[in-house]
Amino acid sequence: MSDLDEYLELNRDRFEEDLCELLRIPSISTDGEYASEVRRAGEWMNDQFRDLGLESRIIDTDGHPIVYAESPPIEGAPTALVYGHYDVQPPDPLEEWNSPPFEPDRRDGNVYARGATDDKGQMLTHVKSVQAWMETEGKLPLQVKYVIEGEEECGSGGLLAFLENRESHELLAADAVVISDTSQFGPGQPAITYGLKGIAYYELHLTGPQQDLHSGSFGGAVANPANALGRMLAALVDEFGRIQVPGFYDDVVPLSDQERQQFAALPFSEEAFCEQIGVVALGGETGFSTLERRWARPTCDVNGIWGGYQGEGSKTVLPGRAGAKFSFRLVPDQDPQKVTQSLREMLESLCPPGIAMELRDMHGAPGVVVSLDSPYMSAAAKAIESGFGRSPVFIRQGGSIPIVTAFKEALGADPLLLGWGLDDDNTHSPNEKFCLSDYHRGIKASTYLWRELSRVESDE
Ligand code: BES
Ligand code: ZN
Repeated sequence: MSDLDEYLELNRDRFEEDLCELLRIPSISTDGEYASEVRRAGEWMNDQFRDLGLESRIIDTDGHPIVYAESPPIEGAPTALVYGHYDVQPPDPLEEWNSPPFEPDRRDGNVYARGATDDKGQMLTHVKSVQAWMETEGKLPLQVKYVIEGEEECGSGGLLAFLENRESHELLAADAVVISDTSQFGPGQPAITYGLKGIAYYELHLTGPQQDLHSGSFGGAVANPANALGRMLAALVDEFGRIQVPGFYDDVVPLSDQERQQFAALPFSEEAFCEQIGVVALGGETGFSTLERRWARPTCDVNGIWGGYQGEGSKTVLPGRAGAKFSFRLVPDQDPQKVTQSLREMLESLCPPGIAMELRDMHGAPGVVVSLDSPYMSAAAKAIESGFGRSPVFIRQGGSIPIVTAFKEALGADPLLLGWGLDDDNTHSPNEKFCLSDYHRGIKASTYLWRELSRVESDE
């Protein structure tokens, strides 16, 4: 056993303790009330990097801070840039958690907490692997840079603005970008993700009468914002799962036959999938398989909806206001801004007289497909095999990481999306977890990744 392997074995508990410390910080980026906690998580990361002997600093943005750290350059070896996020989604609904979301609980081989898999646990694997190198070898075989942000869960505004500045390109310049914020294909089957969806997120606010009215006295004579909302949202998708926004599919890159065959060859069970999420049937766009719909076709989902009486019992009211949060997942080459324009025109034409509508464009990012054909990709596959004992399959996924396309454009580097999570990790939902064995396998894979990447000849 090498010194590195031995170090990883001996420090398993310490690695878990450190993760739990970070998980105790409620760094909820979408809720302004938690801004100081988000900063505290950023400072925690900064301290971690400094403890490793790296140069690290906090970069302030208009939103939450970015943490930037780097190890010294290594002559003749490439540079890797690790991206991750230390912010998390809100933990609601709280009553559905079996243990409090910010009191990490290690049980049945998992750690349960908000952010366990998305992304604190996954991101930290790339810090602990550097710790292993520093504490056994005294240095890394290549230069590693980190850019860890606190706004991924609300659109990455600060980091996107930072990347618009040319100087940041030099600071972040790297041969390979490493991101662990995705999932494995299944338990025991690691994956490298080569495609992610984009997103276009909105809030629709409808306002009718100046206050709630008696639905008997006024119903039928006054347009009801909740009724209008129902009709407007329903018009977005037809019975075949086709999105009805004019021109929506114009730029969609169709799935190739080869890709469809590759998806079909993966061992995916619809029955097991139904059971995992507790449904009796699946639905979606006609003419596409479940994996095709999840990974490579655009979708539309209402994410939240309000209006009228929500309390117990019945109340015959015609609400003065109603609204919804909804989003489209996009695929290459759809442009979120184009979608917004067409969506706005469509909704305006559907909005009945007597109701005022406001469509708020919350955030957007395009989808991405990265090239599998690079020596860095092969190096990553080898490292995963060393860490997980099995070579990865190559898959696409339906989630979005807004910064990926910006990295591609600003740094000219395709990201290596090496996911250690699982589909049943309850990402964004109650009882989020991360499998502790996957945490340790991820640390091991990352430890080997530095060696494998260092052997790839740098372009410079
Ligand atoms: N880790 C996810 C992205 C992800 C999820 C990738 C599932 C692959 C599979 C990431 O932290 C995330 O949740 N992103 C948001 C981005 C959005 C708020 C702009 C998402 O996808 O909803
Ligand atoms: Zn997330």
